[in-house]
Amino acid sequence: MAFMPKILAFAGSTRAESYNQRLVKIAAAGARVAGAEVTLIDLRDFPLPLFDGDLEAREGLPPNGRKLKDLFLAHHGLLIAAPEYNSSITAVLKNAIDWVSRPVPGEAPLACFDGKVAGLMSASPGALGGLRGLVHVRAILGNIKVLVLPDQIAVSKANEAFNPDGSLRDPNQQAAVEGLGGELARVIARLRL
Ligand SMILES: Cc1cc2nc3c(=O)[nH]c(=O)nc-3n(C[C@H](O)[C@H](O)[C@H](O)COP(=O)(O)O)c2cc1C
Repeated sequence: MAFMPKILAFAGSTRAESYNQRLVKIAAAGARVAGAEVTLIDLRDFPLPLFDGDLEAREGLPPNGRKLKDLFLAHHGLLIAAPEYNSSITAVLKNAIDWVSRPVPGEAPLACFDGKVAGLMSASPGALGGLRGLVHVRAILGNIKVLVLPDQIAVSKANEAFNPDGSLRDPNQQAAVEGLGGELARVIARLRL
């Protein structure tokens, strides 16, 4: 691959034993095999206050918001494993999106999202694997100018789905998640070449 796609990968969970963090790691490995450079981050390392317009007016973008923004700006694509809370997006993921979506002087509107490509996945102990939350994540990203891949993966019964080494017990599911990462790398490369 002549062009090296750069992908930022993270989960919408800060839980130490997060299924979604395990899942996005698998997709990240698939993207690397397909030739991408992947930066895997943990949102726990970028704690942010709940978005508050008064706080923003007073203090501007928090330092961790700036760090996250710089990471988004430095990558072409996003791999996101989004847990489902009450049939929707988690607060930690939405809050991160909200902060990095805020304009700063000298930067184009939605610079962190415009022209990016995203691959989505979810994992949940429930029967639907977080699928209902992905509907909302897809809509949010689409509305802020992210091109979201049509394919997505929801891993149900996540509490039983992983091996101790972090891989998925079902080899077909493991291949599908790696494949989603690979597909993101290939689509970015096709769009950029
Ligand atoms: C506030 C809250 C709401 C939840 N709502 C849902 C839900 O609507 N659907 C679902 O499948 N799981 C739901 N769950 C369970 C999560 O899928 C489960 O906690 C999962 O482990 C979260 O992802 P993580 O392992 O990556 O942290 C909910 C959990 C919490 C804490």
